[in-house]
Amino acid sequence: MRRVYLDNSATTPVDPAVVEAMMPYFTEIFGNPSSVHWFGREAKVAIEEARYKIANFINADPSEIIFTSGGTESDNFAIFGVALSGLRKGKKHIITTKIEHHAVLDSCLYLQKNGFEVTFLKVGSDGVVDPDDVRKAITSKTCLISVMHVNNEIGTIQPIQEIGMIAMEHGIPFHTDAVQSFGKIEVDVKDLKVDLISASAHKIYGPKGIGFLYVRNGVEIEKFHHGGSQEAGRRAGTESVPLIVGFAKAVELCAERMKQDYEHVSSLRKRMIEKINDLFAEFGDILILNSPYDKTIPYILNFSINSGKIDIDAEALIYGLDLKGVAVSNGSACTSGSLKPSHVILALGRDEKTSLATVRFSFGRWNTIDDVDYAVEKFAEVVKNFVGRAVLKT
Ligand SMILES: Cc1ncc(COP(=O)(O)O)c(C=O)c1O
Repeated sequence: MRRVYLDNSATTPVDPAVVEAMMPYFTEIFGNPSSVHWFGREAKVAIEEARYKIANFINADPSEIIFTSGGTESDNFAIFGVALSGLRKGKKHIITTKIEHHAVLDSCLYLQKNGFEVTFLKVGSDGVVDPDDVRKAITSKTCLISVMHVNNEIGTIQPIQEIGMIAMEHGIPFHTDAVQSFGKIEVDVKDLKVDLISASAHKIYGPKGIGFLYVRNGVEIEKFHHGGSQEAGRRAGTESVPLIVGFAKAVELCAERMKQDYEHVSSLRKRMIEKINDLFAEFGDILILNSPYDKTIPYILNFSINSGKIDIDAEALIYGLDLKGVAVSNGSACTSGSLKPSHVILALGRDEKTSLATVRFSFGRWNTIDDVDYAVEKFAEVVKNFVGRAVLKT
């Protein structure tokens, strides 16, 4: 059976050039970067070269990059680290949005349970936060604003620069989760006016288990990995040199081909919309496009089946595609054996059933037009199966 991978926002295959760059750091250049001898120094140099490359890519200073184990740790570090610093000054209010990744959302919920006040901002039906809502939510107690750059379920791009200006006017640290934008669209920390950025390697053809947190020099942040003095005393623990080198190689490749990749996935996205319009015409308007037409990246296309038109079993939808060889995802969380609707799709104003029956297609560097055609044909077959069985609501 043919297998098509359209879940690149979940993770990407590692680029062979990245694997090649990493290999010597498992065997030949294996020293502990904290060791003073030659073996250690060689490993340390590799880390600093990687830090320099990555910093350069986002227009930051190398001293502002802290390597972490990935996006989740970077988000936790930013939220807890800045919140704890705020607490020392008697500030216990955080502003974030309803559509953040769980790494941000759950960190904020934890702080809320432990005495912080958190404002979860709504988004419009296009999935975009209104910067004016951020301004209105600010109080004298606000110690952190965290708004994601690109949403991982629907692909919307948030007005980060405008929010950054507001945060700057009020002297409030501003964090953005850039896990879905980094390496795909330009992320320039100075242009975006951000103080902290989270990023991860495995979304951009790098290895899993490595990411970074950018912290602008001067921003106060408490560390929460205690021990050695790695990462300038901000994150203890022996660094994974192969992963760091692989991350930098992945970034180097993105720097070279970001425009080319962007154009390629744009053509895939365009093709998918055309093909869907074509093959789904016979079903009437049962599909709702959750990704907006503009203010979005082309890497993600998210659809819901309109529950007002047809009852659909969300699990059967995803597994149906899987059985036909098409790997996609939906934002629904499986808790205690039952599916919970995606908080992002709910935030767009969709009802629970529609929010459950969601499919996210996410494109990557190596997908082809053929992959898209195959996926849409299988998608139409799965839906047709439901249409055949269910009574179509009119
Ligand atoms: C927006 C966003 N933030 C954070 C993460 C977590 O990153 P990681 O898998 O590197 O921990 C993800 C992963 O899907 C994401 O999409």
